[in-house]
Amino acid sequence: MIPLVKVRMPPPEQLMPALERVLYSGMIAEGEEVYSFEREFGEQFGLQHALAMSSGTGALHVAFLVCGVAPGDDVITTAMTAEPTNTTILQVGARPVFADVDPDTGNLDPAAVGRAITPATKAICVVHYAGYPADLMALRAIADRHGIALIEDCAHALGARAAGSPIGTIGDAAIFSFQAIKHMTSVDGGVLALRDASKLDLARRLRWFGLRKGVPRTDVDITTPGFKYNMNNVTAAIARQQLPTIGEAIARHIDNGRYFDRAFAGTAGAKPALVAAGAEPSYWLYTLLCDNAAAVETALVAAGITASKLHRPNHRHSVLAPFAGPLPGVDRFYDRLLHLPCGWWVDDADRDRIVAVVKEVAP
Ligand SMILES: Cc1ncc(COP(=O)(O)O)c(C=O)c1O
Repeated sequence: MIPLVKVRMPPPEQLMPALERVLYSGMIAEGEEVYSFEREFGEQFGLQHALAMSSGTGALHVAFLVCGVAPGDDVITTAMTAEPTNTTILQVGARPVFADVDPDTGNLDPAAVGRAITPATKAICVVHYAGYPADLMALRAIADRHGIALIEDCAHALGARAAGSPIGTIGDAAIFSFQAIKHMTSVDGGVLALRDASKLDLARRLRWFGLRKGVPRTDVDITTPGFKYNMNNVTAAIARQQLPTIGEAIARHIDNGRYFDRAFAGTAGAKPALVAAGAEPSYWLYTLLCDNAAAVETALVAAGITASKLHRPNHRHSVLAPFAGPLPGVDRFYDRLLHLPCGWWVDDADRDRIVAVVKEVAP
């Protein structure tokens, strides 16, 4: 089977000495390895202030808090995402307000976001679903007009670009995930990227119980309770060892994605998801929109190619359903949605085989 997602580890001869060095260094908790990773990751992906976290979920939770989201506030969000985008909004005590998506991109429709704004709105949370950047400039303009925060969930979009900028630099806060099957993994882990340096101190305290690092433990004073969301040196060692080759891996996702975009441009029963103007996706998954997604999925699976919808629109969960009205854009996108493998493990022969099977069922 060609898998839809795959764990990518650095070669053992590269990873194991670095891991062994840290494991037996006597310093396995948060320390220099973590801070080196933060600097290197920020430089490589064009992020000004990158904080290493224990997960993308922890990074999101802290992102909402440092952007001032409090119990009772509204956060405009999308249903077309993995659940942590929205469970963290509930975790803060805020209300997720589901705006509709563009049925051809799966990403938040700025017009729908504009209509959902009320005096209770504190933030917009945008997801670059499957690695396809949303219309960030339009969302930035809405956020600025209303004086609210824009938070980018970039869990699927490492290495993507929007409006000529690296992903994660247009929002007030952005998060990345290094969970097992993302473009880059550190087993688990994440990054919180902040535009405004003045939020860094609170973010650092929130990731570690509310304590300030560097102040003697007998003198330090917790003024805001925090969490255990810090990255450790062992995780950071794995993350650092990913950095020298992650660019090549992402480049292969992009090459395969563009290949599929060209191959399916004229296909009648299956169209590529639309790439928004100015967006340069990093194609974590390839998004195909089919007239009969079930038939295409069955044919691909029979040919040894894993394809699926992967996620459930979040407003269909019982805990989130009370916050959603009709979302015809989500329904239309999801009915036609089929994710195809397009990562670094998909070689030229694999992608030709994928195209041939799709074209046979959806000519
Ligand atoms: C869109 C999205 N946001 C957030 C997360 C949370 O990331 P993590 O699993 O690192 O906590 C994930 C992945 O699980 C995700 O897919």
